[in-house]
Amino acid sequence: MKGACFLLAFNLFVLASSFAFAYDPSPLQDFCVAIKDANNGVFVNGKLCKDPKFATANDFFFSGLNLPKNTSNSVGSVVTPVNVDQIPGLNTLGISLARIDYAPNGGLNPPHTHPRATEILVVLEGELNVGFVTSSPNNRLIAKTLHPGDVFVFPIGLIRFQQNVGKTNAVAVAGLSSQNPGVITIANAVFGSNPPIKADVLSRAFQLSNEIVKYLQSRF
Ligand SMILES: *[C@@H]1O[C@H](CO)[C@@H](O)[C@H](O)[C@H]1NC(C)=O
Repeated sequence: MKGACFLLAFNLFVLASSFAFAYDPSPLQDFCVAIKDANNGVFVNGKLCKDPKFATANDFFFSGLNLPKNTSNSVGSVVTPVNVDQIPGLNTLGISLARIDYAPNGGLNPPHTHPRATEILVVLEGELNVGFVTSSPNNRLIAKTLHPGDVFVFPIGLIRFQQNVGKTNAVAVAGLSSQNPGVITIANAVFGSNPPIKADVLSRAFQLSNEIVKYLQSRF
């Protein structure tokens, strides 16, 4: 009986760990510096790896995250990603960064999701209203106003946003639990897909007239 219990517990443990490692597995080598050409690499779940003996410090380096970006655009924010595309040494390591600049008086990092990463954000300057929405059926908004030094977590996959509610520039830095977190900006994906989603699909989904849908599609 004791043995059966142990076996059951062990099976549950194995099951739980296989769920935990269902994607983005831990690397099986110290690092796997990404290379662009396939000629002398091995394909892994991500990018090809450079032979480790040819790795250099610059494969693990990025500079310029101190520089503010020009936020004069339609939403009033700019994201500067620092992921495997900027630092090839991040390949397989399951982590990355981004700097986000927000224009004063409403600059918005619009509702979006990172399909492969949980995000932890620290405010360096300014005042941000941030939030995320839980899954259906509750769709609960979990939101808070943040100030310099405040840290907020956005769980993987959930739709999130940040808006500058102050009168000065705002700056935040986010850590993401993937070397390639991906981003789906809701409005752009839904109203700006290529080719466009049929207006009837969107008018029913969002309970809007075809004219409004066509207008929104023209904006993205
Ligand atoms: C920021 O970008 C806008 C629009 O592209 C441009 O008009 C403006 O001169 C830029 N500002 C700075 C400080 O570069």
